[in-house]
Amino acid sequence: MRFEHVLVVGAGQMGGGIAQVVAASGRRVSLHDAAPGAVERGLAAMRKSLSKLVEKGGADPDEVIGRIEAVDAVVPAELMIEAVVEDADVKREIFRRADAVFPAEAVLASNTSSIPIASLAAATRRSDRVIGMHFFNPVPVLQLVEIIRARDTSDETAEAITALARDLGKTPAVANDVPGFVSNRILMPFLNEAVCALQDGVAEAEAIDTIARLGFAHPLGPLALADLIGLDTCVAIMEVLQEGLGDDRYAPAPLLREYVAAGRLGRKSGRGFYDY
Ligand code: CAA
Repeated sequence: MRFEHVLVVGAGQMGGGIAQVVAASGRRVSLHDAAPGAVERGLAAMRKSLSKLVEKGGADPDEVIGRIEAVDAVVPAELMIEAVVEDADVKREIFRRADAVFPAEAVLASNTSSIPIASLAAATRRSDRVIGMHFFNPVPVLQLVEIIRARDTSDETAEAITALARDLGKTPAVANDVPGFVSNRILMPFLNEAVCALQDGVAEAEAIDTIARLGFAHPLGPLALADLIGLDTCVAIMEVLQEGLGDDRYAPAPLLREYVAAGRLGRKSGRGFYDY
């Protein structure tokens, strides 16, 4: 299975990035987002990213964007990659709709960073063809795709998606279907602890991030990274970890919830731990 036609649902920073790398690999992409103007904003961000990549030998931006068509519904393709908000009900509804219109042999993947894949597969009648395909932000730059196999995911599906990740120029790593998988089980407690350190007055935000950047050679400090991911998304992932693993050590820091309640969501709202 080469997946020559891919439907990407969600045109935000993740969905847009995924549509971009899939189109850059020569495949045809249908891009759907229910929010008005979201696809146009996604395409504008892609154009910016593609122009940066041209200098490094990347494909012609017009050619790549020419392979992406905006669609106003969940239309059938050989593969769906869903990348909407981290809300299990919203995702399940998309899986239900895709299952109804996609050909029987097609694969349905989710870019979820924490929600169990089995709970999405349960909304379909093809649980052997449902899988997690978790990209990292910024998608065109970061190499990893975390592939999540649920209990019913077939070997054939896992092999085809692993091959696709490689064909997109990424490095796949396989994890089992446990809330938060590997990436966020490690990352979120780290980010949350940085927020706790800020909340407890251990240091200013800049000092916390400097310590992680220079002390551990991380490209971004944890607070700047939380701003990049989106503080609302961080809270949603931490809640999945807390509930799914039944352990309160994953509970979001009160300061993180406070910022989200106040609309300080990070880069996307112009303000998080830093101003943008
Ligand atoms: N498209 C194309 N190129 C891009 C780009 C994009 N979207 N973003 C950055 N670049 C390029 C820049 O043009 C630049 O290229 P040159 O070196 O040729 O100038 C290069 O990448 C480095 O960018 P910058 O100089 O602007 O800044 P930087 O050195 O800080 O790198 C970064 C930017 C790659 C994003 C880097 O900061 C980084 O790796 N940050 C960590 C990101 C991270 O940890 N992401 C994971 C988030 S977790 C997640 O996504 C999953 C989850 O489940 C929550």
